[in-house]
Amino acid sequence: MKMNYMRLTVASLALVVSLASCGGGQQNAQQEQTKQEETAVAEKVSPEKDFVLGAKIFNEKCIACHQANGQGIPGAFPSLVDSDLLREDKLAAIHQVLNGDPGGKVIKGVQYNAPMPPQVETYEEAVAVINYVSNHFGNDLGYISLEEARKVTINPR
Ligand code: HEC
Repeated sequence: MKMNYMRLTVASLALVVSLASCGGGQQNAQQEQTKQEETAVAEKVSPEKDFVLGAKIFNEKCIACHQANGQGIPGAFPSLVDSDLLREDKLAAIHQVLNGDPGGKVIKGVQYNAPMPPQVETYEEAVAVINYVSNHFGNDLGYISLEEARKVTINPR
């Protein structure tokens, strides 16, 4: 009788241990799967199309001057909507956000005297925000690749 009881205890202990390790195994497998899914998502979003980053940078930095609708303030900050620079010379736009611009330009017949200070520090950020503004506010002005953007020299600050 005592033996039977012992055997039962050992058996149920073994069951508990195996259940616990089984549950743990499942949890690990789930964590592993989540990790793999996150990596897959991260790999899918290239900096060229990272509109989440692009929007974040726009809302933190550009919005103060170029306004929420991208239309700027005539005579002070040019509109990014239908911008010839964005359409025709994205490398210049990348240069502008990385290194700033001294100003004193006439854009679409309007004089802009104020300089634009440098806004971002990396090629990834520059590409994300330039492609974002080129494809928002009704714009359909194309994309620049990260590889192309690397042709711009980032000036020391
Ligand atoms: C402090 C104000 C200010 C901020 C902030 C600012 N800009 Fe500008 N931006 C200007 C001014 C002024 C000009 C026009 C003068 C010039 O180009 O030098 C300009 C011009 C531009 C142009 C050229 C437009 C054209 O058609 O020639 C682009 C593109 C641009 N800005 C993008 C951005 C982006 C993207 C950001 C945010 C990462 C940004 N700017 C932040 C003031 C600003």
